[in-house]
Amino acid sequence: MSTPEFFSIPLSRTDPRVAGALANESRRQTEQIELIASENIVSRAVLDALGHQITNKTLEGYPGNRFHGGAQFVDAIEDTAVERAQQLFDCEYVNVQPHSGTQANQAVFFALLSPGDKVLSLDLAAGGHLSHGATPNLSGRWFDARHYGVSRDTGLIDYDAVEQQAVRLRPKLLIAGGSAYPREIDFARMRNIADRCGASLLVDMAHFAGLVAAGAHPSPLPHADLVTCTTTKTLRGPRGGLILSCNPDWKKVLHAAIFPGVQGSLHTQVIAAKAVCLGEALQPQFKHYGAQVKANATALAETLRLRGIQVVSGGTDTHLVLLDLRRQHITGQRAQTVLDAANITSNKNPVPFDSRKPSEWVGLRLGVGAVTTRGFDTSDLQLVGNLIADLIEAAADGGPDATIDRCTAQVAELCRAHPLYQAG
Ligand SMILES: Cc1ncc(COP(=O)(O)O)c(C=O)c1O
Repeated sequence: MSTPEFFSIPLSRTDPRVAGALANESRRQTEQIELIASENIVSRAVLDALGHQITNKTLEGYPGNRFHGGAQFVDAIEDTAVERAQQLFDCEYVNVQPHSGTQANQAVFFALLSPGDKVLSLDLAAGGHLSHGATPNLSGRWFDARHYGVSRDTGLIDYDAVEQQAVRLRPKLLIAGGSAYPREIDFARMRNIADRCGASLLVDMAHFAGLVAAGAHPSPLPHADLVTCTTTKTLRGPRGGLILSCNPDWKKVLHAAIFPGVQGSLHTQVIAAKAVCLGEALQPQFKHYGAQVKANATALAETLRLRGIQVVSGGTDTHLVLLDLRRQHITGQRAQTVLDAANITSNKNPVPFDSRKPSEWVGLRLGVGAVTTRGFDTSDLQLVGNLIADLIEAAADGGPDATIDRCTAQVAELCRAHPLYQAG
């Protein structure tokens, strides 16, 4: 039983404990510089969709073919999301229902493979993703996943080596893409390798989907059988996934792989938010955002490189910059902690051939999607790069306190100059 108040009393009055933590999180986001490569800052419009009462609606199936009544408005929203994704990525098949990037990939495995089938994907330390066949993940437990790496000299994918490995192994699925590979991938070459060994080609563009949408990065769609991505990260939408293809024949098998294959009912509020973010990505301003992301990442990488910090692969073609801190003799964890103390948020990461345990990884992953959305330009990123270099040097010297104080003040100034979510 509910009272009229149930529908009207705000969270701040009904649950101060959760409301307080949410208020703290808002303040944290406002007062820190977000450099986690998988994060971004969604628009007020996306937040409106996520917080809408559409979340009450349970639906299974696809538009026009649902298992529950009352579907007409969600159908219209899902159709809108699909049409916008088709237009944005110039493709025929779209599934907007995956609850996450991991589940989008899981559906592809479920549709294309049988347990024990061979998969070839980028090694985790070289920037791959757990859902591409890593041992602790279902994809690695149930399938025979092997991995290719990058060249020790360049940090770049060695396509000749991938080809040799693929021809020897004859995987059923070849996967390109990952979570810490900062460079463009030669999709045409990966297609060629897949054809040579009789594999299907999946490109997981989770990290760079927004850049593809903005025309700031080549599209994998003309080359891959299937493309998956998250709607978070550079695409700047809600938490969730997409499956895309230029080949409409995938519809039957991929639709069934998502529902009822690996998922149940829709996250209706997320489908609405996906429609909104895809609509935003179709606007001309999104092209400026994509170009600025690339310029900002290059400015950050170059600043750090000039300060003597090793940038894996020598630079970036995306939003992502991976640092190798071996020369500084500090771990990624230590760097992450010191940056955190100055309100710069990042994450420790392995670098290629880094086989240590996570607490000993020597990599630090940075990404500029969120700060670009916030309005930072290349001169801001040069300043941020210098702050990071100061903090890393101070941490390596063992006495970072005064540096942390100075950097924290500069971070606060930058954040004040680029505010978030104004009231009203
Ligand atoms: C390349 C790649 N694929 C898939 C995922 C998984 O996405 P999710 O966290 O939505 O499961 C990620 C997440 O970081 C990723 O980087």
